[in-house]
Amino acid sequence: MGQSGRVVVITGGSRGIGRAVAFRFAGEKPILVIVHYDPDDSAASDTLAKLSEKGIQGEAHRLDVSSYQDVNALFKDVLSRLGKIDVLVNNAGITRDTLLMRMTEDDWDTVLRVNLKSVFNCTQVVSRSMIKQRGGRIVNVSSVVGQMGNPGQANYAASKAGIMGFTRSIAREVAGRGITVNAVAPGFINTEMTAVLPDKVKESFLQQIPMGRMGEPEDVAEVVYWLCSDAAKYVTGQVVHVNGGLYMS
Ligand SMILES: NC(=O)c1ccc[n+]([C@@H]2O[C@H](COP(=O)([O-])OP(=O)(O)OC[C@H]3O[C@@H](n4cnc5c(N)ncnc54)[C@H](O)[C@@H]3O)[C@@H](O)[C@H]2O)c1
Repeated sequence: MGQSGRVVVITGGSRGIGRAVAFRFAGEKPILVIVHYDPDDSAASDTLAKLSEKGIQGEAHRLDVSSYQDVNALFKDVLSRLGKIDVLVNNAGITRDTLLMRMTEDDWDTVLRVNLKSVFNCTQVVSRSMIKQRGGRIVNVSSVVGQMGNPGQANYAASKAGIMGFTRSIAREVAGRGITVNAVAPGFINTEMTAVLPDKVKESFLQQIPMGRMGEPEDVAEVVYWLCSDAAKYVTGQVVHVNGGLYMS
């Protein structure tokens, strides 16, 4: 598998972990397609500008990945213009934390749609083209919470556990076509998603992490990149935990 000129699609690539993944790919001069759903394009434009300084070609699309129709339209357009997609990183995700007794139907549905249905939406259309080209890499971003559970995150934990089951199933479906499908399960990572947590919650997380610190987006990006490299060509259907020891399987 050549490492240059790969078309790499990253959902949620405007900031946080997704942006770190985009920067990690920069060394191989990929064509990067970033999908995000921020209120405006400022983070995505900033990411593209930084990539462009490194000589990387990229484009950003503001689109809700939970929409089957919009995802299909975007990926078909990308495939017709760029001819292929070599790497798909399903990273877009949100939280709507609250205890079960207070969780609304909308809290449940929205998190499941954005975090889990989106992975189905993107993977189905991309794997169709990867099957034809007999190769490709798919990495889904799950969470340690999908493994351990967490009070106040039943919707989020269910979506992230769903990603693990989805990953193992699709890995089995497409392994014979030269496509690997893996997941990473980050622990407690320093991004906008965790910045909003109350100090008390952060403290209690930190006490449970043997390494005694939050992870950085780059810690996760490194593992995503490795899973997409030639070195990981015999690795599929795995969930790789990146959590400073918070959970050990
Ligand atoms: N930060 C952590 O501690 C942590 C831990 C475990 C897993 N994760 C997972 O890592 C992934 C990235 O998280 P992050 O911390 O970088 O978050 P973040 O909030 O910084 O970034 C989220 C990204 O997802 C995009 N997004 C959100 N909803 C979308 C939608 N409907 N359609 C398209 N894009 C959408 C946003 O625009 C943004 O680009 C998420 O799936 C998250 O659940 C994060």
